[in-house]
Amino acid sequence: MSNNISDSVVYIGVDDKYVELFESQYKVPNGVSYNSYLIKDEKPVIMDTVDSRETYKWLENLENALDGAKPEYLVLQHVEPDHSGSLIAVAEKYLDLKIVGNAKTFQFVSQFYDYDFGDRLVTVKEGDTLSTGKHTLKFITAPMVHWPEVMVTYDSTDKVLYTADAFGKFGTLDIEEEWDCEARRYYFNIVGKYGAQVQTLLKKLEAGKYEINTLAPLHGPVLTENIPYYIEKYSVWSSYEPEDKGVTIAYASIHGNTGEAARKLEELLKAKGVEKVSVFDLSRDDIAEAVEDAFRYDRLVLAAASYDGGVFTPMVDFLNRLASKNYQKRKIALVENGTFAPTAARTMRGIVEKFKDVTISNNVVSFKSTLKESDLPNLEKLAEELSK
Ligand code: FEO
Repeated sequence: MSNNISDSVVYIGVDDKYVELFESQYKVPNGVSYNSYLIKDEKPVIMDTVDSRETYKWLENLENALDGAKPEYLVLQHVEPDHSGSLIAVAEKYLDLKIVGNAKTFQFVSQFYDYDFGDRLVTVKEGDTLSTGKHTLKFITAPMVHWPEVMVTYDSTDKVLYTADAFGKFGTLDIEEEWDCEARRYYFNIVGKYGAQVQTLLKKLEAGKYEINTLAPLHGPVLTENIPYYIEKYSVWSSYEPEDKGVTIAYASIHGNTGEAARKLEELLKAKGVEKVSVFDLSRDDIAEAVEDAFRYDRLVLAAASYDGGVFTPMVDFLNRLASKNYQKRKIALVENGTFAPTAARTMRGIVEKFKDVTISNNVVSFKSTLKESDLPNLEKLAEELSK
């Protein structure tokens, strides 16, 4: 399958199937793609580079796509090394190549790379355009989607919006999988903190009334159909409003007993007609999936063992991640286990009450060591409240 955008815009990115942890923290069972494109024109333009893990393959793709031509410009939309990692290699290979970025782009380039570009840097700012022959590129700054220097680029000829990290997804391009799930996990874990800045970008796009036929992100598939669907997803995600009705149960269990209580609550919720319940063992499951579902659904249950006068540490890690991603606008319920001096609920409450616009249920379920028959009415009461 070709990932090319049009006759004149060739996909030259690479699939990285062997990266174990993207950004040294995210599991990517289906790998990740570093996207890059060549706009073939009188003045050929390369859109971004790729991670240094894949420089060789990328340069080969570039050379094939150029078909003997020489690239005139490289547009650097984002300096994070998964996109700028091959900058020096391409600059050394094509000595007349000019690098297009904004002032922040070049500040970060100089911080990452000790290289003298001489007079090869072309500085652009918001709204500037670059005409390359048949194509005209317009640069739209998108600070903090995901870094301050990020800009997106609109090609009015092919009606393509090159979106940097926005609309990206984990998974290589040869994998057939639903966009939503891995795009959502990517969004909330990587860009999630910057909802306001994503909203600013969406408003700019709306105000500019760009006709967009294609979204070309730096990770994941090129999106060519049903563009409003993806824009709407980003609009909801960046507003921090829940996407779906459902309950996420995240548990931190030392010997499995808190996990059993979490599973019992799942059973009770399902029996009461809650269709979407997702349960995560924070010690073993992918915590980035738990973050994703915590944002996806409108209700969140935190179930944890007491530990060292606080809460079992996988829960602390989870709550720290939610806090750093600006978690808000949800209902939260607490379940604690404690063999002696239960402290989990109090500790979790102390953390989540600092979240913005959250409602914390007063039905706190507290049990000792193992869930017993006598604890079921409390769990039942919580399930009843959460099923509404
Ligand atoms: Fe894909 Fe923020 O780098």
